[in-house]
Amino acid sequence: MDVIIINGGRALAGTVATSGAKNAALPLLFSSLLAEGEHIYRNVPRLKDIDSTELLLRHLNCKIQRTGNQFKVSVNRPDSLVAPYDIVRKMRASILCLGPLLARYGKAKVSLPGGCAIGSRPINLHIEPLRQLGATIDIENGYVIAQASKLVGDKIVFEKVTVGGTENIMMAATLARGITVLENAAMEPEIVDLAHCLKKMGARIEGEGSSVISIKGVDELHPCEHRVIPDRIEAGTLLISGAITGGDVRVENCVPADIQALITKMRESGFDLETGQDWVRVKACDEWAAVDIDTAPHPGFPTDLQAQFMALMTQARGTSVITEQIFENRFMHVQELLRMGANITQKSQVAIVHGNRGELSGAQVMATDLRASACLVLAGLAATGETVVNRIYHLDRGYDHLEKKLQQLGARIERHAEGSI
Ligand code: UD1
Repeated sequence: MDVIIINGGRALAGTVATSGAKNAALPLLFSSLLAEGEHIYRNVPRLKDIDSTELLLRHLNCKIQRTGNQFKVSVNRPDSLVAPYDIVRKMRASILCLGPLLARYGKAKVSLPGGCAIGSRPINLHIEPLRQLGATIDIENGYVIAQASKLVGDKIVFEKVTVGGTENIMMAATLARGITVLENAAMEPEIVDLAHCLKKMGARIEGEGSSVISIKGVDELHPCEHRVIPDRIEAGTLLISGAITGGDVRVENCVPADIQALITKMRESGFDLETGQDWVRVKACDEWAAVDIDTAPHPGFPTDLQAQFMALMTQARGTSVITEQIFENRFMHVQELLRMGANITQKSQVAIVHGNRGELSGAQVMATDLRASACLVLAGLAATGETVVNRIYHLDRGYDHLEKKLQQLGARIERHAEGSI
């Protein structure tokens, strides 16, 4: 297993570009199952979750051709409509094949994704709405077994905002009979991107980006070409890498409006941020103040940037209260930050970070989940001495060569195969 070694303490400077968004690319690739034929996706990031998606699509009889960041997916009628445990357990987002397979072929058997480090992550908000659209769904031997000769539109009110649930039901509803209205729908940019692509495929969707989405079912969809939106979480992580090292970093190929919540909090903290049409620059800053954050569905502060922001707050002047509202167990980075000398107390879903610039020192740390890994890399950049981040396969699930991008900004960061150090 690879490790990442960081020699911290260097201010990062320069320009770096974000890749395509993981959380947009995954549902987009699964949406291809709604229409047989050749789909083309551009700006697909190179990361492990995309490899897992490719594996599942191939298992479902798709042919895939990758050229650089372009993905050509040729969808053929699958011989088997099963998403097996071995693939699904590696990536929870595999559940996103359920809606498309059921809507297109009237049947699907998808493994239950199982537990997850950051919380229980149930799929009831995927299953119940599909039942409401007329599907018969049983859970047997660890699989969701769904059937429906034809889904029928209905009004779905999500009891909780769910990104994946909104995506799955929106995809299923494109081929349902009649109109489906999703209330309390997620408003994330990735939902909007998926809706744009589905519309290119012939779907009739209105209201994406608001909390009410209405979908008028059509008889069939056709393949299309689509460019994946930039990754707002990667953009935020790169901005924080500049901020936490007192550096000057310009992040290009991003949509500033999509990370407005982060930009607002960084400005409140004292950072000077400049924005253009598709870039954000954070300028060197010697001292910044602690600010509080509460994670919330978009346009609130994203849970996927909570861990990285906590790293930044360990270096702030004052005390920051960080409240995680989306997942019940998303503070595993706290224990690792403590090993690096941070001063944090945590009780349930609230972490109190007592900031102190320069207090972090390099240590051996363990990545526990995707965004926690990014937090530890950022802490390592700010720490004195050497930080070794273990279990970085988590990082590779969702970041497109993060260490190379940080090297480009002057970071002393290297990947080593275990055993080679
Ligand atoms: C997506 C993102 C993930 C991000 C999360 C929240 C992808 C591939 N992943 O995950 O990076 O952290 O949104 O912004 O896009 N819930 C239920 N029942 C369900 C589904 C969800 O109770 O059936 C709960 C979850 O436990 C969680 C909350 O709803 O507490 C939000 O989860 P959800 O928005 O569904 O997250 P994902 O789509 O899995």
